[in-house]
Amino acid sequence: MALSDFDLVLFGGSGDLAMRKLLPAMFSRDVCGDLPPTARIVCVGRQESTQEEFINMVTSTARPHIKSAKATDDNWNRFIARITYVALDATDVATYHGLVDALRNDAGVTRVYYLATPPALFSRICDNLKDKGLATANSRVVLEKPLGRDLASAKQINKEVGKVFEEHQIYRIDHYLGKETVQNLLALRFGNILFEPLWRREWISDVQITIAEKLGVGNRIGYYDTSGALRDMLQNHLLQLLCIVAMEPPTSTSPDAVRDSKLQVLRSLKRFTPTTLAQNIVRGQYRAGHVDGKAVPSYRDEPEAPQNSRTETFVAMKAEIDTWRWAGVPFYLRTGKRMADGLAEIVVRFKQIPHSIFNQPTSSFQPNSLVIRLQPDEGLRMNLMAKTPGEGMRLKPAELELDFRETFKAPRMDAYERLLLDVLRGQLTLFMRGDELEAAWEWVEPILTNWEQDDTAPLPYASGTWGPAAASALIGRDGLQWREEA
Ligand code: BG6
Repeated sequence: MALSDFDLVLFGGSGDLAMRKLLPAMFSRDVCGDLPPTARIVCVGRQESTQEEFINMVTSTARPHIKSAKATDDNWNRFIARITYVALDATDVATYHGLVDALRNDAGVTRVYYLATPPALFSRICDNLKDKGLATANSRVVLEKPLGRDLASAKQINKEVGKVFEEHQIYRIDHYLGKETVQNLLALRFGNILFEPLWRREWISDVQITIAEKLGVGNRIGYYDTSGALRDMLQNHLLQLLCIVAMEPPTSTSPDAVRDSKLQVLRSLKRFTPTTLAQNIVRGQYRAGHVDGKAVPSYRDEPEAPQNSRTETFVAMKAEIDTWRWAGVPFYLRTGKRMADGLAEIVVRFKQIPHSIFNQPTSSFQPNSLVIRLQPDEGLRMNLMAKTPGEGMRLKPAELELDFRETFKAPRMDAYERLLLDVLRGQLTLFMRGDELEAAWEWVEPILTNWEQDDTAPLPYASGTWGPAAASALIGRDGLQWREEA
């Protein structure tokens, strides 16, 4: 479907996300011929700079993030001709005149305001856009994370933004939903007859969802130390993956059908109490160690990190979903920085066979599992038992593998590319609805409150490992192991 003409306004337009992800994503779509010839990008920032200075900055900062062979000078020059820089103070409506001038006053041109700013600015920006008559019926607003830091602040954001924009104009982004494999999980679950009958407590023994990073906190300590892994990764990315794995079949892929199903999962998550929380959640903080053979410092020794920080860089938990489909099936969630490997995957483990007809005990049968890999490679792996070739009947684990890159040679789209295209098309399915956001915070809130009141520090773990030993003990208690440790 061809895109209609648009003005894309990036608040935070000279910031890190714009340079690393948003502008490179728009460039990729441009060279693929997706952008209408007259579509424009207005980058908004605080800093006074001329158009020429800004374009030079974009060329030196954003262009190196583009890996495509199509990043030729001609293509680049054509792309940057779409960009206009506007300096303003987002909190001061008197400074918005440059933005008014930069936008086309044409009902046929879609306006997208992408707020890649701290959430404290969302409400002021929306008010100021309204004040200036810039929040029109054909406008959309994209909210970048963090979408609050607890339930109250998330509600506040929904309320304030909702005063200016209708729910169908609001795109709450979670870039994990733009990843190819996440959408493939929908295809797997609802495009095949094979899985759905087995996708329930009778046949599935447990589910593991891991997002592990080798990276440390980098230069984001100011944000990260007030956030931590629970807010930064679990409340959003991990819970969204959990929703896609666990949701009931939506009636279609329409935004509300999918979001209703996800909401039901969030609302069915078993609430933690202070006692169950202590038993089922492990938090950790990285210490010095080695990642890929390179010595890396402790979290507390990262530049500008507070020496006594109690911020967690690792969380592992056992969650449960109180529904007929999932009662009693543990969902183990885990995320951490400075881990042994960088990967994101979902492992669905099926139950053990009930009886062995072969001359080997049931315990020698590895239960079937389905590994859905998001990163670094994208694919599916089904673990089965198969006969080893030759005489006799010996069964051994074997794998069926579907590598998305190998199978579909089509060009890939980065998550931001995909999601930006969806915003420009007005396609809301892969964005969170306001009630979904609140339900996720509501579930996380008792954990946050408990940790705030508890003055014990997160458990230390050496960089380059899979986190504190207590995380292995958490799953070990149920007679299981994390996949990488098995
Ligand atoms: C972001 C977090 O949302 O996701 C970062 O703020 C994290 O801390 C990043 O590094 C991970 O995303 P990806 O796509 O690289 O796995």
